[in-house]
Amino acid sequence: TSSHRIAVIGGDGIGPEVTAEAVKVLEAASEATIEQTRYDLGAERYLATGEVLPDSVLEEIRTHDAILLGAVGGKPGDPNLPPGILERGLLLKLRFALDHYVNLRPSRIFPGVETPLSEAVLAKGDVDFVVVREGTEGPYTGNGGAVRVGTPHEIATEVSLNTAFGVERVVRDAFARAQARPRRKLTLVHKTNVLVHAGAVWSRVVGEVAQEFPDVEVDYLHVDAATIFLSTDPARFDVVVTDNLFGDIITDLAAAVTGGIGLAASGNVNPDRTAPSMFEPVHGSAPDIAGQQKADPTAAILSSALLLDHLGESDAAARVEKAVLSDLAERVPGTPRRTAEVGDAIASRL
Ligand code: NAD
Ligand code: IPM
Ligand code: MN
Repeated sequence: TSSHRIAVIGGDGIGPEVTAEAVKVLEAASEATIEQTRYDLGAERYLATGEVLPDSVLEEIRTHDAILLGAVGGKPGDPNLPPGILERGLLLKLRFALDHYVNLRPSRIFPGVETPLSEAVLAKGDVDFVVVREGTEGPYTGNGGAVRVGTPHEIATEVSLNTAFGVERVVRDAFARAQARPRRKLTLVHKTNVLVHAGAVWSRVVGEVAQEFPDVEVDYLHVDAATIFLSTDPARFDVVVTDNLFGDIITDLAAAVTGGIGLAASGNVNPDRTAPSMFEPVHGSAPDIAGQQKADPTAAILSSALLLDHLGESDAAARVEKAVLSDLAERVPGTPRRTAEVGDAIASRL
């Protein structure tokens, strides 16, 4: 197509700063015209109006080709903004309403980028894997509650929802991704030794779908052990499929070991294309550095490459990746650049 209609939600904290750079790069890289619709959603709007994501706004966002999001989450400790209001009411509402059941979180070690991994760990092989995190179920659905709140007898539950339908569709997507990659390996990460009910669904579905992909090697790790291997032998991973909460946790670790949260991109993908997919950095609003042009926009920029790829512009996506790679290779440790300088440098390499 000759134009892409993109809903842009900068959000809170460093969200608008990094998103501005992602849009800059998107416009420079795409062969199509980028038609942006900007949405002011997040802490400021909520505090001023009490609105988080009105249904009419959601329906308008739904008409776009894709969504670019920065981050949501207000200042910590704000008594007018209890935790979860924005996270649940905005971010998760978008992921659930638009059926983003594949939360795609790639990790790799970029040449020239410092990581906390030792030479011995790096010598084990190339680190290049993708976590396929389930995006619409698990403990994120809001199933649960609390009684006797505030008393010593309080009881709180958060029930993890795992449907055969929801598990199967994400597992099948992960297998297809594994099959399309050179190593063809899929690792299920769960905690089947304790979470036996959900674990049984995940294990059974992986076993069943594996029959359709006989050339994909299947592996299993408990999530605690997966954190060991992510830090001692990340090269063992190719495609990881896991539930919503485990996927959240291990992808921050994956980012930390492969060069930092400032580089970790993600796509909340609706593979059936019944609604727009949403692309965002893995990191949050980083209130500790917000408004100071200190944030690394690379994760947001790489997320815009995932967006381009999703919209069929694989050449443009590859150009963005290449520009990021060459920028990363020339970064001088100890010489920070402003957020906009990084965006300009990457855009100018396109
Ligand atoms: P965070 O990712 O915002 O920050 C963790 C640490 O990483 C901070 O020290 C921060 O300065 C640093 N950091 C993050 N992004 C960076 C970047 N681009 N460049 C340089 N440093 C960066 O996580 P948090 O502190 O746990 O969460 C802050 C808020 O963000 C919370 O309200 C949380 O709910 C929200 N959150 C939102 C999203 C999202 O919108 N997708 C994701 C995670 C957290
Ligand atoms: C992420 C974030 C979100 C999540 C929060 C803010 C709801 O941590 O995108 O990784 O847990 O999915
Ligand atoms: Mn997270």
